[in-house]
Amino acid sequence: MQALDYTNAAILAPMVRVGTLPMRLLALEQGADLVYTPEVVDKGIVGAQRVVNEDNGTIDYIVKGVPVFRTHPIEKSKLVFQIGSANADLALEAALTVAQDVSTVDLNCGCPKRFSVHGGMGAALMEEPEKLCGILRKLVQHSGLPVTCKIRIFPDREKTLKLVKMIEATGIKALAVHCRYRDERPRERGHWDRFREIVEAVSIPVIANGDVLEYGDIARVQELSGATGVMIARGAQTNVSIFRKEGRLPTLDIVRQYIRKCMVTRNVHSNTKYVLMQMFVEDVKSSYYRPLCDAKSFRAVCKVFEMESELDTWTAAQEAKGYPTDLDTVPRKIQDSSLSSPAPGKRKIDHVDGADVKTKKTDTMAEDVKTVKEPAAKKHAGDGSSSQPTPAGTPKAETDAEAGSGSTKEIKLTATVGQVVVKQSSSA
Ligand SMILES: Cc1cc2nc3c(=O)[nH]c(=O)nc-3n(C[C@H](O)[C@H](O)[C@H](O)COP(=O)(O)O)c2cc1C
Repeated sequence: MQALDYTNAAILAPMVRVGTLPMRLLALEQGADLVYTPEVVDKGIVGAQRVVNEDNGTIDYIVKGVPVFRTHPIEKSKLVFQIGSANADLALEAALTVAQDVSTVDLNCGCPKRFSVHGGMGAALMEEPEKLCGILRKLVQHSGLPVTCKIRIFPDREKTLKLVKMIEATGIKALAVHCRYRDERPRERGHWDRFREIVEAVSIPVIANGDVLEYGDIARVQELSGATGVMIARGAQTNVSIFRKEGRLPTLDIVRQYIRKCMVTRNVHSNTKYVLMQMFVEDVKSSYYRPLCDAKSFRAVCKVFEMESELDTWTAAQEAKGYPTDLDTVPRKIQDSSLSSPAPGKRKIDHVDGADVKTKKTDTMAEDVKTVKEPAAKKHAGDGSSSQPTPAGTPKAETDAEAGSGSTKEIKLTATVGQVVVKQSSSA
């Protein structure tokens, strides 16, 4: 049970919908040292069936025929699986369910969304420190995995320090701190000045999160705070090359790299499109934006970004091997019998969409989601998430879903995901 190395680590934050497998792989390729899954509510993953897809090597966790979490062995040593929970037994069951494919489990104690706090999860746990610490202790003692925790801060300094000391005493390996109060929104500036007192109050690594919007901010916030590592959400959402020390790549480059990752990991169209739309959140006047909103299929998305010939090549290669090529449909229900014995060379689960498939029961809410709006005519019913309308053409949502070793200094990560070789050599 080796803890991840957080020293100077640049970390992709947990992000519902956005942080699905293609984004995590791209983040690692771009220089992220560690990546978090989006929050998965405990009940959403407990009892999941684990399916290995021989066509692209991904691993799916399936609940009632619906894929709720997709990973690839290449990311395991960097992957933190984030759990939303208000119940220690369920949290442990969730952790044990995915334990073989992740490096760390994290408890989300920062989400202020109604769904989370009404269920006693997320930021609500900060008001019930005994319960919060009970969940962490259970995970620490029985999951067999390193455990971490992500919190916000209280306006009251003493209250915050008391809580972080209690949390540290549970035996967790690191603490991520989003430097906002429960009721503060992303447009309100985060309190970078509050990190240092937390860093000084505990001995475990502290990961600073909030308002790291460019590469240079990583060093700035570390210098100011003394934090061990730095976590980035929105800055990566709009352009994940924020992790590149050489400087950001143009949006279009990142868009195309992202689409390639979606292709080789067979990401479902609705999630691919949603994440791409977030990349244009600050540039909705871009000539690509409206055609992207109108794109009803993965092929249409490829057309918008002039990648149809790449898709043709990939499709032909998959067909030659007898592998599926449809990236547009989300299986609503999959026969259990077909899951247990997939035909040779075939896979029964075509798509995983950690974020686009939601049920009210397993739903999870992002914190502070800045959403790209559809053009008025294209708006659709949404998915039950108050903060994240789904892109046009997205199937109405049903479920939601979605970790160590070595030094972060000289990480060499090389493996093949589909046709793409993922390589990383990080020195952040
Ligand atoms: C699209 C989106 C989804 C998010 N989902 C989660 C989540 O699943 N779990 C969580 O702990 N925080 C979630 N957050 C909050 C971020 O992890 C982070 O704490 C917050 O955005 C502040 O970091 P930033 O200033 O770098 O954006 C989400 C944020 C965004 C923008």
